[in-house]
Amino acid sequence: MDSKEFRKQAHQMVDWMADYFENITKYPVKSTVKPQEVLQQLPDKAPQEGESMDKIFNDFLNIILPGMTHWQHPNFLAYFPANTSYASILGEMITATLGAQCMIWDTSPAAAELEQRVTEWLRDAMQLPEYFSGVIQDTASTATLTALITAREKFSNFQINEHGLRNDLLRVYCSEEAHSSVEKAVKIMGLGRQSLVKIKTDSHLAMSAESLQLALEEDLKKGYKPFCVVAAIGTTGTTAVDPLQKIAKLCQSHNIWLHVDAAYAGPLLLLPEFQWMIEGINQVDSLVFNAHKWLFTNFDCSIYFVKDKDSLIKSFEILPEYLKTNSRGKVNDYRDWGVPLGRRFRALKLWFVLRNYGIKGIQQKLREHNRLAGIFAEWIKEAPNFEILAPVNMNLVCFRYFDIALSEEAVNEVNKQLMNKLNQSGEVYLTHTKIGNKIALRACFGQTYLEKKHVEFCWKSIQSWVQKTKIEQH
Ligand SMILES: Cc1ncc(COP(=O)(O)O)c(C=O)c1O
Repeated sequence: MDSKEFRKQAHQMVDWMADYFENITKYPVKSTVKPQEVLQQLPDKAPQEGESMDKIFNDFLNIILPGMTHWQHPNFLAYFPANTSYASILGEMITATLGAQCMIWDTSPAAAELEQRVTEWLRDAMQLPEYFSGVIQDTASTATLTALITAREKFSNFQINEHGLRNDLLRVYCSEEAHSSVEKAVKIMGLGRQSLVKIKTDSHLAMSAESLQLALEEDLKKGYKPFCVVAAIGTTGTTAVDPLQKIAKLCQSHNIWLHVDAAYAGPLLLLPEFQWMIEGINQVDSLVFNAHKWLFTNFDCSIYFVKDKDSLIKSFEILPEYLKTNSRGKVNDYRDWGVPLGRRFRALKLWFVLRNYGIKGIQQKLREHNRLAGIFAEWIKEAPNFEILAPVNMNLVCFRYFDIALSEEAVNEVNKQLMNKLNQSGEVYLTHTKIGNKIALRACFGQTYLEKKHVEFCWKSIQSWVQKTKIEQH
């Protein structure tokens, strides 16, 4: 392909992208393909001869697109969103065009300095402490692994990096509702799953600080070595918020690293009315949130803040001859701030988003999402046979259909059926969680271009599928 052909193709594809967003509600939100259906349409050998972009794009439309779930569809209420925006897409297009590998300052000074600046912008706009240094990671899972490794190294005076683990009796704490990435991190680190203590939650499904205190005291008596607590601001199941101030006090008194997983709810710190979530932040060692969930920046873009940047760098740096530069020590070489060496230029799309929306524009969107979720929650509360199962703190509503004539197991079954049918219909996509022994349906209203008409459509669709499911039950 030459630049003339590239220009022609790119124009056509950008037109397609704009049409895609304009017509997105015409697609079934969740792909309806069967397992292997896409695979069977793909030749089992790579082509020997080059093919035209027209043919390739045609196959994209006919084979790939039907196998895609439309994460930007306004009726995508599943999991947490991974939202994007026009500004973000433009940034990503330029990142792909530059194709820069931004591992160290020298390999693209502007990428490193823009990363520093946009993370500082966010830190200040979110009213996080000035001593936090920011770095963009691929995902919150990587950031949490990074936090745990740094905490471990600081605790061991950087000896585990030298000599490896030696039955150190190290322990990490999080709530029963914490994201699985914490468990994954302790497995990857070689600490073993047994080193993770899951603390009970209170009636709001937030970590019980009292239970944490008891667990820490008992473990210390038994000779264990608590070195890190992971608190959640916005759990995956229900967006519960752990009591940071109480947890922070405990961590401070036992000299334990406190990492905050705000992967989803972090952007809400841009709203003054959500600052209560980080009371106690001065005792926090690190915090992660995903711009790629609810900050209109396409996957991947996870923002990791750390108080003690020197310990972070000391834990991860490694300096082979081929990576030595004259600028070392005077600039941020972000390869030393996490696991991978190679790094994408993620700061560009974030910069586009922050500038194009402005903090005020983002605040407006976040508030609108919370408002729309509140409206949906009211409809649920008013509807006979529906109930809310967890506090609606932000834009996630956990609810279920119930029928007093049915047993708890039967109600769970109906809700599962309802969810499967809704998802198969292509009208709405919901996922579930379990609250106690109840199946809860989760509806998360965080799509970039979400409007009230979409929320109304979702509610009507849910109601009509309830009717159909009830009829089939009888
Ligand atoms: C609270 C929480 N933490 C961590 C994660 C993991 O995020 P990532 O996919 O960026 O690793 C998620 C994902 O949904 C999450 O909800």
